[in-house]
Amino acid sequence: MRTQIAIVGAGPAGLLLGALLHRAGIDNVVLEQRSAEYVLGRIRAGVLEQVAVDLLREAGIAERLDAQGLPHDGFEMAFGERRLRIDLHALTGRRVVVYGQTEVTRDLMDHRHQTGLGTVYEAEDVQPHGFDGGRPYLSYRHGGTGHRLDADFLIGCDGFHGVCRASVPPGALQTFEKIYPFGWLGLLAETPPVSPELIYGHTERGFTLASMRSHQRSRYYLQCSLDDTVAQWSDDAFWAELRRRLPAAAAAQLVTGPSIEKSIAPLRSFVAEPMRFGRLFLAGDAAHIVPPTGAKGLNLAASDVGLLARALAEFYGGSTAGIDHYSQRALARVWKAERFSWWFTSLMHRFPDTGGFGLRMQQAEFDYLCGSVAAQTVLAENYVGLPLG
Ligand code: FAD
Ligand code: DHB
Repeated sequence: MRTQIAIVGAGPAGLLLGALLHRAGIDNVVLEQRSAEYVLGRIRAGVLEQVAVDLLREAGIAERLDAQGLPHDGFEMAFGERRLRIDLHALTGRRVVVYGQTEVTRDLMDHRHQTGLGTVYEAEDVQPHGFDGGRPYLSYRHGGTGHRLDADFLIGCDGFHGVCRASVPPGALQTFEKIYPFGWLGLLAETPPVSPELIYGHTERGFTLASMRSHQRSRYYLQCSLDDTVAQWSDDAFWAELRRRLPAAAAAQLVTGPSIEKSIAPLRSFVAEPMRFGRLFLAGDAAHIVPPTGAKGLNLAASDVGLLARALAEFYGGSTAGIDHYSQRALARVWKAERFSWWFTSLMHRFPDTGGFGLRMQQAEFDYLCGSVAAQTVLAENYVGLPLG
């Protein structure tokens, strides 16, 4: 089989890239190791920046997003009982949209199916080859037989544990990493959200986030120990702990119910440089991870593939400038999102080892935010997302 662009991974990065390339008349095939149902079963991000919304519109996949997505003009921060609303729209003229990663993925999958673009789910043992020369290809097994997919370029959209970054010679790659000493326990429930806007809370008992997927569906998170397991957390225990961490007025509005999903995610900052090796490009979680505070992961995946789709269209139009600058352009934006996610994580969580001084620094930072429109503007600008560049 031959295609122009061979994409590894059918997460949001791979599928959105495929859709943007298709719009530009560029043929592509996606290989995914899991089944479509498995990919749709992963509950992850929930907040889209304007850049991500614009790219979905550009790809012609925003009909359901425009109808069902919830535009949010602001969000709240709480330090115990002290609450601060960040008025995103007043501070930046922009807003974010609450629309789940699962829904984005479903829309992209449906579009791919309708446009007849090739997608191989349950592709086993995918391996990139020859990307340092002019004839790259992917080998894989499917349905018990071996296959080969030749392409002009290979794109690793295969997430943090994928095969593409792992196939690059170690000397060609520089990595930067920070592991946080806690995780997030997430719970999804068919209950109305506790508040019309998101609440990021810092409490003595640890961080909490009250989010949502719709007016009927809530998504909550609790900072938890890295030793915790989902089995240890009954629904009742989760709701009781959430109630303790929410500001009292919000806790009074809490509606509980059986969980639809519960999972624990570790928190990590990670960047691999560069994002291009000859004819192999990396995009999304394959190249970088942010801790989830501030919801940048999915949005960064979208902005990477926005830049990459534009660069590849330029390549087929006769210019290599876009692909030559992709890594540098993408990384400039990635590092700013890394900084913001690290800052927001550092402000909002309880750190087991920073003592009284660390806590006073967090309180002073929150105080400063409460009194400074300039500080709120910096936060809001980063939260709604920096321009694609
Ligand atoms: P992924 O979504 O990881 O997709 C990669 C795809 O590649 C997967 O489908 C995988 O099965 C496939 N793949 C991997 N290896 C291979 C292989 N060898 N061959 C073929 N296919 C392969 N972000 C937020 O903003 N907010 C959140 O609350 C949030 N929560 C998260 C919770 C968890 C548990 C995780 C893991 C991430 C979370 N994120 C969150 C981050 C966000 O979901 C990711 O940034 C986003 O999914 C990145 O998209 P991606 O397409 O780059 O990678
Ligand atoms: C969600 C996750 C985040 O990390 C965040 O900052 C906001 C919302 C969510 O899953 O809804």
